[in-house]
Amino acid sequence: MSPDAPAGRFGDGGEPGSFLELLADHERLFEQFLAHQDALIDRDYGRALDQLRVLERELDEHMRGEEQLFAELFSRTGEVAGAPLQLFTGEHRHLRESLQEFERATRDLLAAPPASARPIVELLDEEALFKTFFRHHDERERNLLYPAFDRGTSAADRRAKLERFHRPPPKA
Ligand SMILES: [Fe+2]
Ligand SMILES: [Fe+2]
Repeated sequence: MSPDAPAGRFGDGGEPGSFLELLADHERLFEQFLAHQDALIDRDYGRALDQLRVLERELDEHMRGEEQLFAELFSRTGEVAGAPLQLFTGEHRHLRESLQEFERATRDLLAAPPASARPIVELLDEEALFKTFFRHHDERERNLLYPAFDRGTSAADRRAKLERFHRPPPKA
């Protein structure tokens, strides 16, 4: 965790052999978003766009991994830890759509760099909502989803499924 990040926000509680390990992914993804915002503040729109695209790809991989586990572990009940699966998939959709919007806005800044800082501040305001939403998603997964993944798997099964998250994606 970076020295600037609030202590205990992400990545604590990632005991080996538990799906709580995945909280470290959340921390890495959040840092990636902050790197995008650093670039925005520097008015380096090309870098801001690159950072966002890396985040979109990595967040998508992470969420697809989770959704694969929904299908494997909870598709019969349609719910996890008392919450409908759609709660989590709906939040994933919202996260994806928000990043697409930010990508569009950053591309516009790159195409026509503004003289005033106002459009950048507006984008940062929108992005602040995303950060709050991301933290809430992190909390729901920390408190509900990952413990349910742990309960739904044997130790060996858990190890194998967690390794899938750490495997590099196949080359396109
Ligand atoms: Fe997650
Ligand atoms: Fe998620």
